[in-house]
Amino acid sequence: MLTFLCSLPILWQIGLLISVLLGGFKAYLWYTLGVCTSTKKLTGKTVIITGANTGIGKETAIDLAKRGARVILACRDPKKAAIAKDDIIRESGNKNVVIRQLDLASLKSVRKFAADILKSELRLDVLINNAGCATIEKTLTEDGLEYQMQSNHFGHFLLTNLLLGLLKKSAPSRIIHVSSMAHAFTKTLDLNNLNSELSYDTGTVYYYSKLSQALCTRHLAPLVFNSGVTVNCLHPGAVQTEIFRNAPSWFQMIAAITFPLFFKSAKEGAQTTIHLAVADEVANVTGEYFSDCKIAKTSKLAKDAGLAKKLWEVSETLVKLKPEERHY
Ligand SMILES: NC(=O)c1ccc[n+]([C@@H]2O[C@H](COP(=O)([O-])OP(=O)(O)OC[C@H]3O[C@@H](n4cnc5c(N)ncnc54)[C@H](OP(=O)(O)O)[C@@H]3O)[C@@H](O)[C@H]2O)c1
Ligand SMILES: *[C@@H]1O[C@H](CO)[C@@H](O)[C@H](O)[C@H]1NC(C)=O
Repeated sequence: MLTFLCSLPILWQIGLLISVLLGGFKAYLWYTLGVCTSTKKLTGKTVIITGANTGIGKETAIDLAKRGARVILACRDPKKAAIAKDDIIRESGNKNVVIRQLDLASLKSVRKFAADILKSELRLDVLINNAGCATIEKTLTEDGLEYQMQSNHFGHFLLTNLLLGLLKKSAPSRIIHVSSMAHAFTKTLDLNNLNSELSYDTGTVYYYSKLSQALCTRHLAPLVFNSGVTVNCLHPGAVQTEIFRNAPSWFQMIAAITFPLFFKSAKEGAQTTIHLAVADEVANVTGEYFSDCKIAKTSKLAKDAGLAKKLWEVSETLVKLKPEERHY
C-alpha cells in the first residue's frame, strides 16, 4: 500500500494528503457537533429572540415555535422581519409568532420595545439575546456609544434589566446570551476604552462586546438565582450566516469557498441556544458558558468577578439605568 502511494506522482500524493486531512477535520467537526436532544414542548410559554430574522436567531425561532411557544421576533427591520415571520410560521406550523420592533443601537428603541412587552405580555419565560454584528467601521450611535458594543452588549444589557421583573414574575425563566469564543481573543478589557475612546480596532471591539456578555452573565447569575431565573451564555460555533456581511470583499471571497467546508449551518449553529432554552438538565445551571450543548471553558478574564462587577456598574451608567429599574 505504502509503496503504491509513494509511486504516485508528487501532486497526487499532496492531493491525497490534503483530502485525508480535510476529511479527518470534517469527521472531527461532525463528531463534536452538539445537538439538542430534548423533546420538551413549550406550550403556554413566551420567548423573545433578538435578531430573529436571519441566521442563528431565525433557526432558533423555528425550533421553539415548533415546540408550541409564543415566539416574539425582536427585529430592527420590519420588512425583513415580516418575511422571516412568514417562513417561521410556515416551517413550524405555529401561528403564534409576532414581530416587535427593536433596534439595539438605540437605547430609546430598547426602552420602547421593553415598555411594549411589559404592557402586552403577561409572561416571559425565555429571553434570547442573539442579535449581533461584526466587522463594522468605527461609528457612534445616537447615544454616543460605539455601534458594535451597543448592538451586542449595551443594548442587550439594558433590555435584560428592563425585562427582569417580568422574567422573575414568570419564574422559572431563562436568560441566554449568544456570546462567542471570540470573547477569549482579548487579554484585557479596558473599561476606559469600552466605546473606543482611546483607540479603535474593529476586531477588538467585537471581542470586548462578547467578553462583556460573558462577564455580565457571570455577574447577574447569582443575583437572580433565588428568584428562579437562570442566566447563561454560549458560543454557537463557526456558523455560516450573514455575520460577515460588512467584511471586506477579499474576506467574503475566501469565506464563500471555505465556509461551506468547515462552518456549521445556521440550524446546527442554533443547537446550543435551543438546548439552553428548553433542556430540563440545565434548569438549575446558571452563570455558565456553553459550546456544543456542553459547559465549556472561558478565558481567565471572563471569570474575573471584580472586573464583571465594575463592567456591570459602568454599563448601568452608560445606558442610564434608573435605580428604580433595578430588579435584582
Ligand atoms: N456566525 C458565527 O460564526 C458566530 C460565531 C460566534 C458568535 N456568533 C453570534 O451569533 C449571533 C447571531 O449571529 P448570526 O451569525 O446569526 O449573524 P447574522 O446572520 O448576521 O444575524 C444577526 C442578526 O442580528 C440582527 N442585528 C444586528 N444588529 C442589530 C441591532 N443593532 N438591532 C437589532 N438587531 C440587530 C440582524 O438584523 P438585520 O438582519 O436587520 O441586520 C440579524 O437579525 C451574534 O450575536 C453573533 O455575534 C456568531
Ligand atoms: C431544579 O431545582 C428545583 C428547585 O430546587 C427542583 O424542584 C428541580 O427538580 C431541579 N431540577 C433539576 C433538573 O435539577
